[in-house]
Formats: sequence, structure tokens, C-alpha cells
Amino acid sequence: MSDWIWLNGEIIPMSDARIGVEDRGFQFADGVYEVIRLYNARPFTLDAHLERLQKSATGIDLPAPLDRPTLKNEIGRLIAKSAVRDGMIYLQFTRGVAPRNHLYPSTPKPTLLFYARPLPPANGPGEGEGAKLIAVDDDRWRRCWIKSIALLPNVLAKNKAIAAEADEAVFIDGGVVTECSASNLFAVIGGKLVTHPVGSKVLPGITRAVLLDAAATLDIEVDERGFSEEEAVRASELFITSTTREITWVARWNDRYIGQARCGPVTLALHRELCRRIRLETAG
Ligand code: PDD
Repeated sequence: MSDWIWLNGEIIPMSDARIGVEDRGFQFADGVYEVIRLYNARPFTLDAHLERLQKSATGIDLPAPLDRPTLKNEIGRLIAKSAVRDGMIYLQFTRGVAPRNHLYPSTPKPTLLFYARPLPPANGPGEGEGAKLIAVDDDRWRRCWIKSIALLPNVLAKNKAIAAEADEAVFIDGGVVTECSASNLFAVIGGKLVTHPVGSKVLPGITRAVLLDAAATLDIEVDERGFSEEEAVRASELFITSTTREITWVARWNDRYIGQARCGPVTLALHRELCRRIRLETAG
């Protein structure tokens, strides 16, 4: 099976792809990215991802990579060429190759690439073991709304979690729970769905946005606010969300069990609604 990549306008075998040593993505992490889920060879919430890509690019003073309809068309061309039906598209956009200098090049030639990778199906509603989280200090920069490829704090946090036999690290900023190394976090507190507002400390997750909309459909009250670690461990339910994992209920936080140590009713209802929306948008 050939593995294809779209690189600066051409679809070529992955094994032929080359990126310059002086690409600013490589030397300065001067770039942004997106991860888009594919179901049945159809991208889910593609427009929302492209909208966020545009905002991230603007956030680092990069003009949009291609106009939106052209980019959508090119992503469609890559999907058609690729054998991946259920998986993800990884897209990366950097300021491109230029002699190494902190100053931006006066005429940047950005690097844009994307490719598809298969993923196993995520657990269905209520399925699987709950995730174990460990709390770590949130030492990231204060522009978390930009989906930057500079992910070292997230990488270190994730590895710390795995070394502690947990699944995901949850960031704590001055006692307030923000999000996880590669996912957003939700709590059910007093019957309300609570999650930290997006912005300087939290990425505007696409799954997060779909779930806030789903909560409105299901008449679940939402409270977008920061909450403490103590509130989190006392929550009746906790779950994490991302494009690749959809929704995973949380069983443990450090050494403490959450709620009834099983997937709770609000998590279950929201996950069912997410699955319904995925089917609606990506059915063959
Ligand atoms: N990460 N917060 C962070 C820090 C993330 O890296 C991600 C996703 C999310 C969830 O966002 P979304 O629902 O749009 O996937 C929240 C992707 C999947 C990754 O880096 O692989």
C-alpha cells in the first residue's frame, strides 16, 4: 500500500518527501498544525478545523496557506488517493525554508503538507476502561489558542503520565485545571457541564465545541469557568475529548477515583450524541 503525502501542491509517495534542513518549522517550531478525523473516507467538521487553522496562522503572522475552497479540494484529492478510510489527516503549515534568523524572511515561502494515517476506532459510548490522569504544572506559553507545533511541554507532560502508568496529563495553572496534554477536559459538577474557557490557557478544541453544542441539544446546562483540582476530583463525572479519541471517561486522578468509577450518564448521553452527529456527517 502506498503512503501518499500532499507537499507544497503535489501528491507524492511519503518516501520521496523532503523538507529542507533550514525549514523554520524544524529550527524554530515556527508553524501551526491540525489533526482532522476521517470516518468512511470523509473528514468530520472540516470547516471548523480550517477555520481554526486560519486563526492559528494569523496568530503567528502567517497568511492563510491557500484559499479555503482550494484547500478543501486538495484535501479531498489526497483522501481519494490515499487508502485510509478511518483515521486522521495530519496537516502542518510552517514559515518554510530560509537562512536561520530569528527575524522572519521578507518573502517567506511557507511549507504546507498533509497526509492521512489510519486509526483504530475510538471506544464507543461507555466502552473501555476509564482514563487515568496525573496532574502536572501548566508551564506552557499563554497563547494556547494557537495550535502551534511547539509542543515540548505537552510532550514532556504526556511522557510523565505514561511513566506514572497513567494515560494523560492534566495541566494545573495556579490551582486551576486548564486542559490536558492533547485533549480538553470536562467535569460534571452539581449536574452542570463545566469546562475551562478557551483562550490563552486552553485550545479551542473542535470536539469541545461540538459537545457544547450537543449539550444545548440535550438540555444540559453548561458553565464555562475554571475549577480547582479539588472540585475536579469531587466531580460526579470527568471526561476528556479530542479529535482522535472522541470522548474518554476518566476513572482516576492521581490516586483518587472519580464518581462511581464508571462512565457516568452525562458523559454517555453526550458521547451518543457525538456519534449520531459523526454518522450524520460522514455516512456513505
Ligand atoms: N490534539 N487540547 C490540546 C492541547 C490538544 O493538543 C488537543 C488535540 C485538544 C483537543 O482538540 P480537538 O478536539 O480539536 O482535537 C485540546 C490533537 C488531537 C493532537 O495534537 O494530536
